[in-house]
Amino acid sequence: MSKKKKTSTSPAGSPEESNGPVAEKLNFYSEQTEPRAGKNPIPMFLVILVGILAFASDMHLMANRGGFDARIYQPYANLDELQGDNPIDPVLEKRKLGKRLYDVSCIGCHQANGLGIAGQFPPLAGSDWVNAEGPNRIIRIVLNGLQGPVNINGTVFNGPVPMSNFGALLSDNDVAAILTYIRSEWGNAASAVTEAQVKGLREECTKRGATAWTADDLLKFPVK
Ligand code: HEC
Repeated sequence: MSKKKKTSTSPAGSPEESNGPVAEKLNFYSEQTEPRAGKNPIPMFLVILVGILAFASDMHLMANRGGFDARIYQPYANLDELQGDNPIDPVLEKRKLGKRLYDVSCIGCHQANGLGIAGQFPPLAGSDWVNAEGPNRIIRIVLNGLQGPVNINGTVFNGPVPMSNFGALLSDNDVAAILTYIRSEWGNAASAVTEAQVKGLREECTKRGATAWTADDLLKFPVK
């Protein structure tokens, strides 16, 4: 029916017929790009892609998360492995604690560089008291304080104020840590001080109370 109509309205070879498919094509595109309202399902490939990404990310996290512990870093997967390769050095830990306490209790007088202040506070850096073979005398100094003339490396120091006592403020472990620090800082190279060494003198020093030692008192005690 249409064929008949077509032949009658558009004879073969006429310009109308040769333009026909082009017009149809244009029409086709414009109709396809027309936006459509309505709900379309999420494309399946997108769902699968997101799934794969989530899975891959999870696998990556499982392998590298280190228990979500900020201390754990590559190539370690957990704290045990990390600590196995980096054993905690007890003396280093003690020095760190000692520095923190020194910065609070001692630094005001003996200064950050351990040199003290000439005429007022004696130096700890290079001091033969600090670097003595054993810490018996300096433990007593910290627990009870020190007053009067004191010979340091051959020079007599006699400052205007005595050193105060720290026995009530610092635990045995604190004193051991501070003394370990000052015996190994600023070029000092004496042995570490143990908590037990401080404990051994604690009772005697507590009985003495707030009476500071004099250098002469201390020189009567064996240095070790
Ligand atoms: C208020 C100031 C002051 C503070 C704080 C202080 N000292 Fe002293 N320290 C002195 C003075 C002053 C002397 C010397 C006392 C004397 O003339 O007999 C001294 C002497 C010493 C000595 C023996 C002498 C030497 O130079 O080697 C040691 C060791 C020492 N102090 C360690 C410490 C430590 C450790 C601390 C912290 C826990 C500390 N001092 C805190 C003022 C202070």
